[in-house]
Amino acid sequence: MSANPIQIEDYYTQESFQKIKVLADTKETPFVVIDLATISQHYDALTEHFPYANVYYAVKANPANEILELLRNKGSNFDVASIYELDKLLALGIEASRCSYGNTIKKARDIRYFYEKGVRMFATDSEADLRNIAKAAPGARVYVRILTEGSHTADWPLSRKFGCHTDMAIDLLILARELGLEPYGISFHVGSQQRDIGVWDAAIAKVKVIFERLKEEDDITLKMINLGGGFPANYLMRANTLETYAEEITRFLKEDFGDELPEIILEPGRSLISNSGVLVSEIVLISRKSHTALHRWIFTDVGKFSGLIETLDESIKFPIYTEKQGESEDVILAGPTCDSADIMYEQHKYQLPLNLASGDRLYWFSTGAYTTSYSSIEFNGFPPLKSYFV
Ligand SMILES: Cc1ncc(COP(=O)(O)O)c(C=O)c1O
Repeated sequence: MSANPIQIEDYYTQESFQKIKVLADTKETPFVVIDLATISQHYDALTEHFPYANVYYAVKANPANEILELLRNKGSNFDVASIYELDKLLALGIEASRCSYGNTIKKARDIRYFYEKGVRMFATDSEADLRNIAKAAPGARVYVRILTEGSHTADWPLSRKFGCHTDMAIDLLILARELGLEPYGISFHVGSQQRDIGVWDAAIAKVKVIFERLKEEDDITLKMINLGGGFPANYLMRANTLETYAEEITRFLKEDFGDELPEIILEPGRSLISNSGVLVSEIVLISRKSHTALHRWIFTDVGKFSGLIETLDESIKFPIYTEKQGESEDVILAGPTCDSADIMYEQHKYQLPLNLASGDRLYWFSTGAYTTSYSSIEFNGFPPLKSYFV
């Protein structure tokens, strides 16, 4: 088999990759380089394809100040998961009115903190949390997250842990009104890197049932639908384009809600950020487990605990690029720590050139999101994954 199946231009413009490479050549591995111009372009594409929607960037995807500042300046709002993310945003001069507390799992005192800082929009999916919100954030807007299908077709499913059934959502929104809160809307997340656009259709249909039930039986008019994240990044397994997602989802919305749409919120993380980044690593060691073993093990200076946690169950298959050319062979890719869970790809066999050697660099594409923020702080003594920006 001859190498190199990964083509740079399938993932980056020549100009962007060149900028990243020039900076990368001056740095010690491992690190991620992020091209901020790519994030800016992705943000513009999102608002162009969903002109009617308000964007709330999911800060957890990459909370670097450089990214938050860029998105602040572009007018984005922010989906916030913790008091720590909120503090970062406020320190950058982002108004609390642009923030939504999107985590359904939160302490009562953290709700109070958000409220005191001026946040007025809260997600919930349980009665206990709703009652906490009513006490700690009186009069705030609440939206209820519902369970959706789609975990089989998402590379990184988010169902089960979050959301509640339709009946429960209806009861919570009625209770919200009784508790003096504003029943504002419904949210869902169909799973991250969701490949089946049809799951938004089913989710929006559920939302419509809730809107109608509450209107007809309880005189509650909901005003907002939060369509979550789940939009595609560019990995080894290809997804449809964002344009196709937007066309289809807009059609689903119009079929159910007509031309007078409620407020529509998007919470992108992966789709905005991933493709802006390249994770650069170095090969530490290449070995075979026996003289006749068919596969080489390639150990790199980056692994599951230093930014590549989304290789768990080999869920996200990052494109891996090397400058070496020539005959290639199946490899197993593993990280540098003394933990046997630190294997990135063993079932799915990447093919890498036979002439690779220790010290050669591997470029992990589409690694701008969910890498640095996931990196452990001192496992086996290794420091957190660094990032640089161009
Ligand atoms: C509440 C919420 N919104 C949005 C996102 C971002 O999703 P994605 O990265 O698929 O765009 C997440 C991701 O975990 C999330 O938990």
